[in-house]
Amino acid sequence: MRKMLLILTMLLVPALAGAQGMMHHMMKNVKDERRVLNIPAKMKTMQKKMMRQHMATLASIVSLVAEGKLDEAGSLTKEKLGTNPEDIKRCSRMAKMAGEPDFLKFGMAMHEKADELAEHAKKGHRDKTLKSLAELINSCNACHERFRH
Ligand code: HEC
Repeated sequence: MRKMLLILTMLLVPALAGAQGMMHHMMKNVKDERRVLNIPAKMKTMQKKMMRQHMATLASIVSLVAEGKLDEAGSLTKEKLGTNPEDIKRCSRMAKMAGEPDFLKFGMAMHEKADELAEHAKKGHRDKTLKSLAELINSCNACHERFRH
């Protein structure tokens, strides 16, 4: 039994060391090129909390569309993600504070896509709603590609 363990160790240790070396090699060229948002820590905590709510909203939208409740999906989208003066002000303040005008641009693109989704949903157009949903998710992705904390 002990001998088996010894043999196993002798085989495993170099294999693991090799894998680690390879990972190290692979990660050598990995660079995070996103721009860092220069805002206070508490602001970041608040922003991330809001982001997790966005994620929950997307889940609710998908559920409502699947249940055929397009009208509700439209109202929820408009209320939670659509353009409203408060959100625009918040995005604008964030962009100014961080000195990153593009933050507002990406934020507005997302809110406007949500407005579009809401309109399709309100009219009962399921396929157009889903198409807008994919584009909405990509508008989230676009900002995540550009900025980080
Ligand atoms: C204008 C920019 C912007 C838009 C638009 C945006 N996000 Fe984010 N999001 C961020 C930033 C910045 C972070 C922080 C990334 C980090 O931690 O480095 C973030 C983080 C997150 C996180 C991680 C939260 C955590 O607890 O770590 C989730 C989830 C998320 N976003 C979801 C979404 C969803 C869903 C949408 C679209 C409906 C969206 N975001 C749109 C900028 C944006």
